[in-house]
Amino acid sequence: TSARLTIDPHFTIGPVRRKLFGGFVEHLGRHVYDGIHEPTHETADAEGFRTDVIDLVKELGVDTIRYPGGNFVSGFRWEDSVGPVAERPRRLDLAWHSTETNQVGLHEFSSWLEKVGSDLMMAVNLGTRGTLEAIDLLEYSNIRGGTALSERRIANGRTEPFDIRMWCLGNEMDGPWQLGHRSADDYGKIASQAAKGMRQLDPDIQLVVCGSSSAHMPTFGEWERVVLTHTYDDVDLISCHAYYEERGGDLGSFLASAVDMDAFIETVVATADHVGAVRGSTKRIDISFDEWNVWYIERFHGVDKISGIDNWPVAPRLLEDVYSVADAVVFGNLMISLIKHADRVASASLAQLVNVIAPIMTEPGGPAWRQTTFFPFSITSRLAQGTALQLKLDAPTYTTAAYGEVPLVDAVATHDAETGRSAVFLVNRSTTEPVTLTIDIAALGDVAIAETHTLSDDDVYAKNTLDDRERVAPKPNASAAIAGGELTVTLPPVSWTAIALA
Ligand code: AHR
Repeated sequence: TSARLTIDPHFTIGPVRRKLFGGFVEHLGRHVYDGIHEPTHETADAEGFRTDVIDLVKELGVDTIRYPGGNFVSGFRWEDSVGPVAERPRRLDLAWHSTETNQVGLHEFSSWLEKVGSDLMMAVNLGTRGTLEAIDLLEYSNIRGGTALSERRIANGRTEPFDIRMWCLGNEMDGPWQLGHRSADDYGKIASQAAKGMRQLDPDIQLVVCGSSSAHMPTFGEWERVVLTHTYDDVDLISCHAYYEERGGDLGSFLASAVDMDAFIETVVATADHVGAVRGSTKRIDISFDEWNVWYIERFHGVDKISGIDNWPVAPRLLEDVYSVADAVVFGNLMISLIKHADRVASASLAQLVNVIAPIMTEPGGPAWRQTTFFPFSITSRLAQGTALQLKLDAPTYTTAAYGEVPLVDAVATHDAETGRSAVFLVNRSTTEPVTLTIDIAALGDVAIAETHTLSDDDVYAKNTLDDRERVAPKPNASAAIAGGELTVTLPPVSWTAIALA
């Protein structure tokens, strides 16, 4: 099977903003406790953070990190998480039926972010709290001093403001599972009030209003229209969340998951632009795709769920999906979809980072390791620089139960005019056939292959586990070659590939 691609740096989509490579840390399962924070671990630093995990997060190349939830935030009282650690209350976390000890809070997490070199994107609780608590947290975080809450921050050991630039107005408020779930109309009004109040305090913050928890919510589309009708002038971005999993053994549909993500993004852009048009506004609302990943949600509902009035564990094993090669190929394709929409997806957050549906796993008292999904993230984050390019792709199609006829190959390229470097990211969705791809790169001038990485395996369900931590890793693609302004490369079945040109 063969396919053709043309790359021309004149045909641009938009800037590849670093925020596209964001992450998400929720107080959930073993993400914070026994994940990033394990004071008794041999690699723990003076604050109890695992330095082996810090090193892996740095290697992953994560920009802004969303915190502290997720569903968790809708029951969260931020005040519990600051002040002397020994005096912090233990609270019920209703979202995950766990106990939150508050041993890690805003100050500790912010210190961890400095260690990994990332910025904070903070979510406020608009599920069970409101405007006052949101502006209180903003005052505590961003006011230099001289007021009750800024002085409390200083008394708690942080002289400089946290200066948090990006704020989420609640989490998944369209989801019936959300504490304080509301109709689009009710949420839109509250989000508008909270946003206005927050901007009175700090006009320069970026605000993200909740969009849909998935493109398959019954309220999808109408939710965005109604919420943005209330908040259009108050916010900068609207969120999208999407998780994909292989269902019922249908690998072909699963491999085409990015088709769904493409349509999701394009529908939300169209809806936002519709609201703008109705209002006669020249302002443009961008997308914060602030939860995306492969997640075996069906497995979660079947196996993990905790219940019982006397059963509220601390840091239980929850959502600890172990990812396969096929999962990583889909994951890499989701990153391709985000970059393909770089003009309107201004920010994105991989959900999540450590242990909980995560590229990095840890064992208490034991090692930390890279899941299969680690590789497409770290390589794309490192190589996708400059501007996303519109490609001309001619590829065969195949038929899926979930999305009908879809291309066998998906691709995006980036080009950095300053350095002259380019990169192309590719997937072959065929479960049986390799694809020989010919890429016309004449418009890039005289370039050479700088790096190639292909993730594939004879066993598409191969995984990295505690006992076999390096079973799967990308390898150089020896088939890649340039001749006469064309780059040819063979993409194995069920594979993800990155090629850097310089
Ligand atoms: O990432 C796991 C959960 O998925 C988040 O808490 C929630 O926002 C979403 O439903």
